[in-house]
Amino acid sequence: MPDLFPHLFSPLQIKNVTLKNRIFSTGHMTTLVTGYKPNEDLAAYHEARARGGAGLVVIEVASVHSSAIYTSHTIMADTDDCIPGYQRIARAVHQYDCRAFGQLFHPGRENFESVDGSAPVAYAPSAVPNERFHVMPRPMSRALIHDVIDGYGDAAVRLREGGLDGVEIVASHGYLPAQFLNPKVNLRTDDYGGSLENRVRFIAEIVQNVRAKVGEDFVVGLRISGDEQSYDGLELAGATAAIELLEAAGGLDYYNVIAGSSASLGGSVHIVPPMFIENGYVAPYAATIRAKVKAPVFVAGRINQPQQAEEILKSGQADMIGMTRAQIADPEMANKAREGRIDDIRACIGCNQACIGHMHMGYGISCIQHPETGRELAFGTRRPAARARKVLVAGGGPGGMKAAAVAAERGHEVILCEAAAQLGGQALLAQALPGRAEFGGIVTNLAREMELAGVTVRRNTNVDRALIEAEAPDAVIVATGARPAPVAIEGAEEAHMVEAWAVIRGEANVGGRVVIADWRCDWIGMGLAEMLARNGCDVTLAVDGYMPGQTIQMYVRDHWAATLQKLGVKVIPYARLFGADSSSAYLQHVTSGEPIILEDIDTVVTALGHNSVTTLADALEGWGGEVHLVGDCLAPRTAEEAVLDGLKVGAAL
Ligand SMILES: Cc1cc2nc3c(=O)[nH]c(=O)nc-3n(C[C@H](O)[C@H](O)[C@H](O)COP(=O)(O)O)c2cc1C
Ligand code: SF4
Repeated sequence: MPDLFPHLFSPLQIKNVTLKNRIFSTGHMTTLVTGYKPNEDLAAYHEARARGGAGLVVIEVASVHSSAIYTSHTIMADTDDCIPGYQRIARAVHQYDCRAFGQLFHPGRENFESVDGSAPVAYAPSAVPNERFHVMPRPMSRALIHDVIDGYGDAAVRLREGGLDGVEIVASHGYLPAQFLNPKVNLRTDDYGGSLENRVRFIAEIVQNVRAKVGEDFVVGLRISGDEQSYDGLELAGATAAIELLEAAGGLDYYNVIAGSSASLGGSVHIVPPMFIENGYVAPYAATIRAKVKAPVFVAGRINQPQQAEEILKSGQADMIGMTRAQIADPEMANKAREGRIDDIRACIGCNQACIGHMHMGYGISCIQHPETGRELAFGTRRPAARARKVLVAGGGPGGMKAAAVAAERGHEVILCEAAAQLGGQALLAQALPGRAEFGGIVTNLAREMELAGVTVRRNTNVDRALIEAEAPDAVIVATGARPAPVAIEGAEEAHMVEAWAVIRGEANVGGRVVIADWRCDWIGMGLAEMLARNGCDVTLAVDGYMPGQTIQMYVRDHWAATLQKLGVKVIPYARLFGADSSSAYLQHVTSGEPIILEDIDTVVTALGHNSVTTLADALEGWGGEVHLVGDCLAPRTAEEAVLDGLKVGAAL
């Protein structure tokens, strides 16, 4: 087989650590941690990426000091209690010749979550408020600074005792070390503030402390944002100047470059850049920094395919490629790339839904395309079916496709029937929203999984009871999806009302002045607002909730909010639709009950939710065979739940 990715699969030597290839999983909070310690779930999670061929996994942030409690799912490395958990992870990943580093962390003023509902005291270089979390920090005393610096060194020793191969100081994303670097946030007048040398001092002393305690041989790296992309953030010139000073002082073995800052809604979008943002856009920052240093430079940021990773290495922009969501979506990505099985890679689509989306809600991370992620102990290996049976799946949306693929992988004979000419169900609509074309990848990827598993697919085939009786399967999986709910409001017959799906499909006649009545508060309302505004309409987005996109992942929402603002879309929050006529839309404030009347309206677009399609499920009442419902036909939710339902049913048959 030709060597498709010679750079990607060449080793990298850092001190006495050999990384077998250039693919790594960057440090990311999994929310799998319990009791502030690495556990079995976390070990199984990283083992899956190591088994899948990654050269290096960086274990998520570990707080270095008692003032650094971040969330109730954060590892605390301020006592020896963390060591056995790290040892378990190290054993798990080393057996696949994969190395493991761990992140050393202090959030400073970035108070993300309270552990018990009461706000903790946030410490920072100066009392400069955090815009995103509305936190006013307490300036650190010099004694606390020295204690925290000591904490980094002590924690590094614990990670080394835990069997890890290196540590990474997190100075990225506006966290405490970055707060010291940033002159807009660090207003100190002592020798930790003011000149660049003074602002770098905190990190330089951390490096010295860590190095003195772990010795010369242990790998110590630094994660830094090449550009924090935030109104009060550090920019490339400042980051590069700091790195040059640190490089001159010595002690660091690599620099891991990323973008973004936790400090503002705009900056935080770049922590986990959604599909709107260009693939590999951080590489130029890494290249600038790489030109100034001798140590290897790592990079990450929407690099979801090996072809692009190879290109970045080949062009000399970086030495190591972070492919984090790429391996959340497909833990086997590295092995598949090495073996040239490019079409089999389940590429991350940048939806942010179940990875960072779960983390922000306090749940273990997963992937909408691959719900086995984060559930390795329950679903990490396919259990062969005790007896091969005939399974008929009705519906080729994401839920039906996943159920079919999993059942077939387990040895069942599976036929999937889709009423339409194309597989995908509602994913075909989702991908038609502006900037969301990549969402269609879920269809391509699941279709490939079915093909590899040997599922027989029949398109243009509607399933009814007669077909089931003729095919006589042992089990039927009903995945018939949902349809827009009928709109029952006063004056609907007189008004010009069109339904969201018809607008997305380009089948509706939409006038110039439009109100979108958005009960779902998800992608549909924001996407339609963008689509119609770009088509020249005057758009008002009236949401039956706090804000547009209330139910979707915040980085996706926040980026979209910027687009809608630039396009002049007007937003009305707290508004339910209760009536319309030929030229007005009648809304009601959801808490005051007062009317909100919008006049001179041509068209009301409704995104008011969906109803399950239950025709087949109803027809199978009394059929006598095994029937399972998955996805929206069970209850209208999202692609994530549909795919998870599919996994659970496919794994249980
Ligand atoms: C669920 C999740 C949690 C994250 N938590 C951290 C973290 O603890 N430390 C960190 O430096 N970056 C964190 N990140 C950012 C990732 O390390 C990485 O930079 C980001 O996902 C972009 O890389 P990708 O496009 O390859 O996914 C997190 C990302 C995700 C998806
Ligand atoms: S949930 Fe979406 S963004 Fe996250 S890893 Fe999966 S495909 Fe990628």
